[in-house]
Amino acid sequence: MVDGEARRIRFHDYAEIYRIPGMYEQLFAGLLQCRSPEVITGLLAESLEAAGERAADLRVLDFGAGNGMVGEELVALGAAVVIGCDLLPEACEAALRDRPEVYRDYLAQDVTALDDTQRAMLRDAGLNCMTCVAALGFDDIPPAAFAAAFNAIGEQGWVAFNLRDRYMDSPSDFARLLERMVAEGVLEEARQTRYRHRLSVAGEPLDYIAFVGRKRGHIDPSWIG
Ligand SMILES: C[S@@+](CC[C@H](N)C(=O)[O-])C[C@H]1O[C@@H](n2cnc3c(N)ncnc32)[C@H](O)[C@@H]1O
Repeated sequence: MVDGEARRIRFHDYAEIYRIPGMYEQLFAGLLQCRSPEVITGLLAESLEAAGERAADLRVLDFGAGNGMVGEELVALGAAVVIGCDLLPEACEAALRDRPEVYRDYLAQDVTALDDTQRAMLRDAGLNCMTCVAALGFDDIPPAAFAAAFNAIGEQGWVAFNLRDRYMDSPSDFARLLERMVAEGVLEEARQTRYRHRLSVAGEPLDYIAFVGRKRGHIDPSWIG
């Protein structure tokens, strides 16, 4: 029910969901008990501590940022700068509406098609971390877009993301890219763990893999099939 009117909205129709204040939180964090924003940023914090580095030095590109739930956790961690990026203008509008103090900038844009000003903004931000939560798999972020975001952060930067376990185990395009990144030495694992991402619509636990790593080089575009 939205303002007394019954509406039918699909779970993955994020544009519609973001237009309604509080609906994303109610559905995903509430009903489906999604804890991934806290889990991924928590693992990032633990990895930083183990490496003797400070969250206060993080300059993060939050990729597939949605309405800002991950950005909010990054700010709570103490990150110096958080920049959001999402394909949907509705995500950017919702983040600025619901969490106006979180993102220094927010690109509502396909990261593989940035203009010169947008590219310069990312370059000048001195990014040293990328987060990508609940946005890989399910035909969301394709490998080419993941690669463009990864290549926008500096070498030795931190990378934290999650992925449904079966996308990691099966020969998906993203699993292949990840395997190549590790084999070529551009991504070094710091933490990897299986955890409960949320419940399915049927109430069954959905397990995801959380991954935190260090960037050691750029992705070569020829690795993307
Ligand atoms: C489930 S939401 C997750 C939002 C947020 N990271 C969170 O954890 O609450 C997935 C987001 O990925 C975004 N997305 C999908 N494809 C994308 C792409 N190619 N580039 C950027 N964002 C994309 C969607 O628009 C959506 O906002």
